[in-house]
Amino acid sequence: YEKIGVIGAMQEEIELFLEHMEQVQVTEKAQIAFREGRLHGRSVVLCKSGVGKVNAAVTTQLLIDTFGVEAVVFTGVAGAVDPELNVGDIVISSESMQHDMDVTALGFPRGTIPYEETSLFPADDKLRKLAEEAGTALSEGRVKVGRVLSGDQFIASRDTVAKLYEELQGACTEMEGAAVAQVCSMNRIPHVIIRSMSDKADGSAHVNFAEFTLQASRNSYRIVDHMLKQL
Ligand code: ADE
Repeated sequence: YEKIGVIGAMQEEIELFLEHMEQVQVTEKAQIAFREGRLHGRSVVLCKSGVGKVNAAVTTQLLIDTFGVEAVVFTGVAGAVDPELNVGDIVISSESMQHDMDVTALGFPRGTIPYEETSLFPADDKLRKLAEEAGTALSEGRVKVGRVLSGDQFIASRDTVAKLYEELQGACTEMEGAAVAQVCSMNRIPHVIIRSMSDKADGSAHVNFAEFTLQASRNSYRIVDHMLKQL
């Protein structure tokens, strides 16, 4: 890939990339700062999308149209949904979906986008494998390839997280990945989502999120950094 888009939702999630990027040139578009530069000799466009699916979607489409990226990597933190996962563990997306898409009143299953061919957006095979290799090489915790569930909700309840696991088979939950994935799919651009667990999306999630986000962001950064070297 000639040019790679790297997205994080929050400052913590992009901070380490910012510190290591060279020859940075900043362009603002739709109030989002796009930082074009080099990382390990590759052309990278780094941006902080802001939180939520709308921010993520706009950022991704601009990366593709205005900055011409040929692949997109999302880096950041998430709440663990799979009970085997703990704070610090890694999820690499096999696919993602929007858990808050709800047209069940019309008979569509939860998470299904009506009248679309699919509601599950698979990650690119090559990017996923590279991420998995990087994760296995670097992570002290578990590295799981699994389903990322995205929604415009911070999940902080044991009942809700149990439902996300049982009904939608999620590995983790966050607020941007499936939007990035859908926009990439619509544009036929490869992507992968890499998330480090900051909390378990349960009653302690707000406390753990505050405590572990910096550390989890670092885990995710290291994997993406290693991955970019191998690309
Ligand atoms: N990002 C990190 N933790 C999260 C949670 N519990 N819910 C949604 N997004 C998150």
